[in-house]
Amino acid sequence: MSAAPLLEVRGLTKRFGGLLANDDVSFTVGQGEIVSVIGPNGAGKSTLFNCVTGFYRPNAGQVLFGGREITRLAADRICKLGIARTFQIVQVITDMTVLENVMTGAFLRSARRSAAREKAEEILRFAGLHEKLDAAATSLTIEGKKRLEVSMALATRPKLLMLDESMAGLNPVELRQMIALLRRVRESGVTLVIVEHVMEAVMELSDRVVVINSGRKIVEGPPKEVVVNPQVIQAYLGDRYRARG
Ligand SMILES: Nc1ncnc2c1ncn2[C@@H]1O[C@H](COP(=O)(O)OP(=O)(O)O)[C@@H](O)[C@H]1O
Ligand SMILES: [Mg+2]
Repeated sequence: MSAAPLLEVRGLTKRFGGLLANDDVSFTVGQGEIVSVIGPNGAGKSTLFNCVTGFYRPNAGQVLFGGREITRLAADRICKLGIARTFQIVQVITDMTVLENVMTGAFLRSARRSAAREKAEEILRFAGLHEKLDAAATSLTIEGKKRLEVSMALATRPKLLMLDESMAGLNPVELRQMIALLRRVRESGVTLVIVEHVMEAVMELSDRVVVINSGRKIVEGPPKEVVVNPQVIQAYLGDRYRARG
């Protein structure tokens, strides 16, 4: 076997009162992989992201990053160690420009304003947002805001980027662009975990897919196997997606 996985989630359990939002969930993510987490609304996908990134404290289980336990660390510590994430509800800073938003991410690694600005500009060029640099963040379309969120996360120089529904609400052209951007992110050496309902993106991007339902992992495997799995079709896909070819 190769080196330890970049991310390892072991028996992660999160309760809200009587509700088990994550129930003994385990999976690993290797360096350089793109792993998708799919499942119906309310399955516990965002909760899983929140537990891994330190926004929620799990009731049981462990999270290891690069072999090191990070389970009870605060969100800013986890970000500093190299995990960045976006939120299902877009979270840009509304009274700042596009550039300033991305600089807030870059300040994690450099206290100097000039260095943060340089990094932010580099990321904005990479993400195809450079021409909007001075625009107010609020003036962007949904697609632009999603791209901005990814840019803010990338500006923290993550090893692992976790994206929560970054394709939602995109038209077909925007979807192609976002898929292309995420491919470039991976090529730049960043590992990705994505929560996504847009199956076209899941099929094209993922090396592996983890399916959760009612808080539990039900299936895991390569995308082509997962989409024809009867349990996955019953719990989630139904008629929404038919494997082609
Ligand atoms: N902060 C919270 N307090 C109480 N219940 C929550 C909280 N966050 C999520 N839940 C509940 O946990 C379950 C899983 O939610 P979530 O992780 O958002 O699912 P998904 O992202 O897969 O749609 C849902 O039943 C949701 O209502
Ligand atoms: Mg969610």
